[in-house]
Amino acid sequence: MYKNDFPMLSQKMQGQPLIYLDSAATAQKPKSVIDAMTDFYTHHYSTVHRAVYQLSQEATKQYHEARVSVAKFLGAAKSHEIIFTRGTTESINMIAYSFGKAFMKQGDEVLITEMEHHSNIVPWQIMCEDRAAILKVIPVSEKGEINLADLEKAITNKTKIVSVTQISNLFGTINDIKQIAHIVHAKGAKLLVDGAQSAPSISVNVQDLDVDFFVFSGHKIYGPTGIGVLYGKEELLNLLPPYQGGGDMIETVTFEKTTYNTLPMKFEAGTPMIVEVIGLGAAIKYLTQIGMKNIESLQRKLLEYAEERMREIEFLRIIGQAEHKKGIISFIVEGVHPLDIGTMLDLKGIAIRTGHLCVQPALRKLGLTAVARASFGLYNSIDEIDLFISSLKDVIKILK
Ligand SMILES: Cc1ncc(COP(=O)(O)O)c(C=O)c1O
Repeated sequence: MYKNDFPMLSQKMQGQPLIYLDSAATAQKPKSVIDAMTDFYTHHYSTVHRAVYQLSQEATKQYHEARVSVAKFLGAAKSHEIIFTRGTTESINMIAYSFGKAFMKQGDEVLITEMEHHSNIVPWQIMCEDRAAILKVIPVSEKGEINLADLEKAITNKTKIVSVTQISNLFGTINDIKQIAHIVHAKGAKLLVDGAQSAPSISVNVQDLDVDFFVFSGHKIYGPTGIGVLYGKEELLNLLPPYQGGGDMIETVTFEKTTYNTLPMKFEAGTPMIVEVIGLGAAIKYLTQIGMKNIESLQRKLLEYAEERMREIEFLRIIGQAEHKKGIISFIVEGVHPLDIGTMLDLKGIAIRTGHLCVQPALRKLGLTAVARASFGLYNSIDEIDLFISSLKDVIKILK
């Protein structure tokens, strides 16, 4: 229904109509996002914040409006609680660094889960090494779920921060963030939520969820690459030291001492990703016009239909059987390497992801090194799933 909004999707691959089933890695861009960026480069481009001339003031206004739209999209109370970053990865690194510096001392603990993406593991490892702190991990079940009792038990008076994904990019599991926030806060710790997979597909309200930090990437919500978001509660962000030094993040500079700018600029050193921010604003406008609730139900419909059809296929096992899931289906086929499935489907114009999906520890726990993954965007349809299933059956017949 929305496919026509996406110029990339009218192309052919290998002589076949392109069926793009890798939106969990990165989503295609609607024309409105591409046009907003082209228009900005063509008619409005200049620096932001720094200049007196009209062009810069207009660019600054549009840049600020994009920040306001992100705040609204996330249900944040204030637009200065929105920090622009390069993406989810940079947002988590930023918090791991600054939170670590402000609050972590020897023997303190960070808690994550076994289903985390590498970008929600490695920054904490680096920080823990630096602060002589301890990284603790709660288990994930075969079905791809975490047990909230395990979480509660694992939080001690040394746990300073818990970092959890809202939706797993391997299992598709939707974690109950509201309940997790309740548990974490009752124990006096802070909560970071990795929203890389949730921001594109379910409606998020950071105040209602009561999360301390929430991060996501522009490119997964149908916006440009190179732009991401870090939401943080104002009082917490004010307590954190800056992540990087440079232009824009200062109030005054002398060789003896520098004082820092207020939020959000304190965390945005250097000339920002101006056009990417404009593109992100356009993506949010596009999603808001469709409505996140509509996207949520579309995702559910595609997931349920695809899973039902995939259960027809002999030797195929779906990885991730959580009660609450979004449109991500990881799978393996007994005796067939996922890479071969991906390669053969590509010959039919169907793009799926294969490999370790940046979740090596979770796969290791399942005794796997790679999976195949089909993931859905708002442009996918039941017809495309039918084509995917019949092509997958053909491919398995050849490879088995
Ligand atoms: C759950 C999850 N977290 C984090 C990331 C990292 O996002 P990015 O590479 O855009 O920084 C991804 C991307 O695949 C993801 O799926």
